[in-house]
Amino acid sequence: MSHAVNKPDSDKACYAKLNWKDEQPFSAQYQDIYFSTENGLEETQFVFLAQNDLKARFSALDDANFTIVETGFGTGLNFLSTWQLWTECAPQNSCLNFVSTEKYPLTIDDLTKALAYWPTLVNYSQQLIGQYQWFTPGFHQLSFADSTVTLTLLIGDVAETLPQLKANVDAWFLDGFAPAKNPEMWSASLFQQMAKRSHHGTTFSTFTSAGDVRRALQDAGFVVEKIPGFGHKREMLKGYYEGSVVTSNTVKTKPGNKTVIVIGGGIAGTSSAYALANKGLQVTLIERNLQLASEASGNPLAVLYPRLTGQNTSLEQLNMYGYLHSLRLLTTLGFERCQYEACGVIQLAMDQKQQDRHTLLSATTNNTDDQFQPLFQQLNADELSKIAGVKLTHSGLYFPHAGGINTARLAEALVQHHNIRVMTNTHATEIKQTAHNTWQIWSNSVLIAEADVVVIANANDAANLSQSSGVPLVPIRGQLSYLQANIESEKLRTILCGEGYISPAMNGLHYLGATFTTHDNEAELRAKDHESNLNLLNTMSNTLYQSLHKNIVSGRVAWRSQTADYLPVAGQLLDADALIASAPRYNEKPENLPWLSGLYINAGHGAKGFLTAPLCAEIIASEVVGAPSPVPVNVLNALQPNRFVMRKLGLKQLAQHLITI
Ligand SMILES: Cc1cc2nc3c(=O)[nH]c(=O)nc-3n(C[C@H](O)[C@H](O)[C@H](O)COP(=O)(O)OP(=O)(O)OC[C@H]3O[C@@H](n4cnc5c(N)ncnc54)[C@H](O)[C@@H]3O)c2cc1C
Ligand SMILES: C[S@@+](CC[C@H](N)C(=O)[O-])C[C@H]1O[C@@H](n2cnc3c(N)ncnc32)[C@H](O)[C@@H]1O
Repeated sequence: MSHAVNKPDSDKACYAKLNWKDEQPFSAQYQDIYFSTENGLEETQFVFLAQNDLKARFSALDDANFTIVETGFGTGLNFLSTWQLWTECAPQNSCLNFVSTEKYPLTIDDLTKALAYWPTLVNYSQQLIGQYQWFTPGFHQLSFADSTVTLTLLIGDVAETLPQLKANVDAWFLDGFAPAKNPEMWSASLFQQMAKRSHHGTTFSTFTSAGDVRRALQDAGFVVEKIPGFGHKREMLKGYYEGSVVTSNTVKTKPGNKTVIVIGGGIAGTSSAYALANKGLQVTLIERNLQLASEASGNPLAVLYPRLTGQNTSLEQLNMYGYLHSLRLLTTLGFERCQYEACGVIQLAMDQKQQDRHTLLSATTNNTDDQFQPLFQQLNADELSKIAGVKLTHSGLYFPHAGGINTARLAEALVQHHNIRVMTNTHATEIKQTAHNTWQIWSNSVLIAEADVVVIANANDAANLSQSSGVPLVPIRGQLSYLQANIESEKLRTILCGEGYISPAMNGLHYLGATFTTHDNEAELRAKDHESNLNLLNTMSNTLYQSLHKNIVSGRVAWRSQTADYLPVAGQLLDADALIASAPRYNEKPENLPWLSGLYINAGHGAKGFLTAPLCAEIIASEVVGAPSPVPVNVLNALQPNRFVMRKLGLKQLAQHLITI
């Protein structure tokens, strides 16, 4: 039943269908050109870069970040030209956030062919091509130039993706196909969405001068000017936003002026430090142990794969976004440097219900990536046995890029950054806000550090800090078993996951996990828990069980930190006491709530911290500097840490819409 999940025939429409005319792309879907046939690069420079005055605006930035949103990514020519200009004239500590929407991404072959036409951009286009993969529908953030340039691609119809974007935009590039051929890219509702994300002085430009476009932009609050167009085009439009500004909680800040303290040196803390340092903030990371990653994040191996269920929930979206984010992060840091074993992971269907869900996933997953190894495939037991190297009796999903993370090496790689200072052996016992709106960290009665922003990333111990004590996190004990490999077991080539997981032999050991027990403080290894792990192994592969069940040599105990809805908590905290005292109503405006300005939490990662914590770190870092969010607003709301207290107050609806654009 070999089934490449990603390419049912109906999904092929997701790609751009091109004809080529004189080596220039032409859309078969829209019967239109991607850019001027006179000179696409010069058109980009004239219409988008010059008319948004980007050279002067980039040069005048002082270590802030600049956000551009484009409608219609196409070949990426506008993005690459903007990046080139940015490199030439933006100050070193500043960041460029380029967001672009695209319903029909080009295939990698078409993109490569289209970009080969522009030799002056080769340094940039090669890097884009290198990361151009895994485009499932939704948000995809790629980072370049030591993370100073990010490209967030919103794959899907602009009418669905743009309303989910949280961003404070400085310039718009309107680059759909001609309005007569592509009216949905020029609709009044799209221009309203633009207005919501604009501030006074936000500019826009477009190649078209269509009267309907001009009027609709004016109706949305933009001042519009008609000017001579590029090449043979008589006129084009440019302008700026002058309408009323929606109060947004995406407030841009100058990262260079800001300091951050991160409490906790597990994957949540180290990845938070990394994401914030990459945005130019000065970070101090505080860890109570002598070593980073020595509690839950200190297992010798962490499995990275998205455990998909086929349900359209925020959790499923988070799993997929988290998976792609962690994979891209490991790629940026280097697989070798982090000792990431991309050995592949098999997610076995342990019963008929799971098998049916995998089949549904196969039918519905709309992955546009069929020129690469697909993100995952549904395979039968024989096919999986061949890949795994051992006999399996269940069907399942195979994730070829997934694998095992060396947790210590990843922690090391994440904090090796000139903007990060690590303080181990330091226990944060109290957080205090000063009269000047900065935050102090105290260890008993000693002041340890002070900063503008604090990220609480200390898992279950967040309960001991007054500002996060209301976030309900449950410790769940987990015991891993280490098994001595043998000739038979060394045939296992991939990680197997069912209700538990087992790794291929690594330095002569297999890692088998894991138990789940609540209300359990026992730090010692328990024989009965090893037994329970072996039972999990038996359900995944009797062959491996037979060869390994007498081979347990050691193990490890640690505690996960779990929320009631299995989603992590990531975002800014509210003052829970003040919230309760003020008794807000369901229709309260989010900005009127008692926010703890500069205080964030990244915790509650349960059994999947390596899947979810780095993405949550990026979400928080983007919020701190006012950069576009890497995930849709519905996911941000599902993760916001105040949801539990708000639900208790009967504010479920408000909690679901707390994060606005
Ligand atoms: C047995 C087991 C197997 C697992 N397998 C996987 C897997 O295969 N893949 C996967 O993705 N996830 C796995 N997980 C889950 C994963 O390990 C966790 O989700 C993740 O490690 C949580 O990271 P964290 O940084 O939030 O917490 P932690 O790693 O616990 O880090 C919190 C840190 O904060 C420090 N700290 C606490 N309080 C303070 C304070 N007051 N001051 C200073 N420092 C403080 C602690 O010392 C600790 O280092 C597993 C978990 C267990 C228990
Ligand atoms: C003129 S091309 C963009 C050219 C591009 N800016 C470049 O630099 O190559 C217009 C793009 O808009 C995309 N598009 C058209 N309709 C769309 C929609 N409804 N939502 C998102 N993208 C759309 C097309 O697939 C196409 O790639």
